[in-house]
Amino acid sequence: MILPLEITNLRKRYRDGIVEAVKGVSFNVNPGEIFGLLGPNGAGKTTIISTITTLETPTSGEVKVFGMDVTKDPMFTKRQIGVVHQEVINSGFFDVEEILQFHSGYYGLRKNTERIHFVLNKLALYEHRKKKVKQLSGGMKRRLMIAKALVHNPKLLLLDEPTAGVDISLREDLWKFVRELRGAGMSILLTTHYLEEAEQLCDRVGIINLGALACLGDTKEIIRQYTQKKIRVVLTEPLHLRSQFLIEEKGKEMLFIVPQNKPLGEFLSEVAIPTNLIKDVHIEEGDLEEAFLKLVSNNKEVREAL
Ligand SMILES: Nc1ncnc2c1ncn2[C@@H]1O[C@H](COP(=O)(O)OP(=O)(O)O)[C@@H](O)[C@H]1O
Ligand SMILES: [Mg+2]
Repeated sequence: MILPLEITNLRKRYRDGIVEAVKGVSFNVNPGEIFGLLGPNGAGKTTIISTITTLETPTSGEVKVFGMDVTKDPMFTKRQIGVVHQEVINSGFFDVEEILQFHSGYYGLRKNTERIHFVLNKLALYEHRKKKVKQLSGGMKRRLMIAKALVHNPKLLLLDEPTAGVDISLREDLWKFVRELRGAGMSILLTTHYLEEAEQLCDRVGIINLGALACLGDTKEIIRQYTQKKIRVVLTEPLHLRSQFLIEEKGKEMLFIVPQNKPLGEFLSEVAIPTNLIKDVHIEEGDLEEAFLKLVSNNKEVREAL
């Protein structure tokens, strides 16, 4: 199967760089998935994006886009991908629609108005299409950058911290739109330092730190592996109980921490609370933040950079 993106043993040392920015990273983006590169500032996320877009050349290792080494055919790569850079670029003189027309021209698309209007509508920019960039709000500028990345209908979309500095309501709109693009078959690589964003949006994540991947896998699987399940049992009357899982007892409420793979029925029969005393049972699953903290405490490399 030809994968949208295959990165193998990528290393990057900037010419004037003191440290190696990327230290032997390998991961793939599968067709139609949202993959998240997650990590703190300086982890190496933007450097990886820059080697995919051929803005930077790898020191060693290989980056393939739809089966093609990006250093061998940069033009092929550029046609397949759309990229939204971390920094907002200001081109104040032109209006929104003109910018998108010029940008389409860069891909050799002369009559691209239909696609441009489709994208403008999708990003709630259509009514602002005659505005100059300097008249746009921060959120609109960010959306314009996404529109630019989409004019040529790329098969792989790279989003470098798409919601940094974006307010919450717009952030949710963007997440919805990114899911829609996935639904239409696009493959997406995004970088973020927001754990919640990665948890909500990404099918798989790679956690990167100090230029190395600390963890790579299915988002839900990572959460399951590195978090604990909490079960809160509300009783009709206080009860004294001995259980290896019990961590807190407060009047009629008991809190248990239970291994992820233990079924609720098995747990209830093990703790042996009389059923007629149970008023309510709440299960609280862990989240990516909890998994991340666990990973940090387990992993010296991750810990040292934070
Ligand atoms: N053009 C550059 N020249 C030299 N060093 C760089 C350059 N760009 C980034 N770096 C360094 O590489 C490391 C990774 O940076 P970057 O890829 O921007 O991380 P992130 O996007 O995860 O915040 C950092 O130590 C940064 O200072
Ligand atoms: Mg960055």
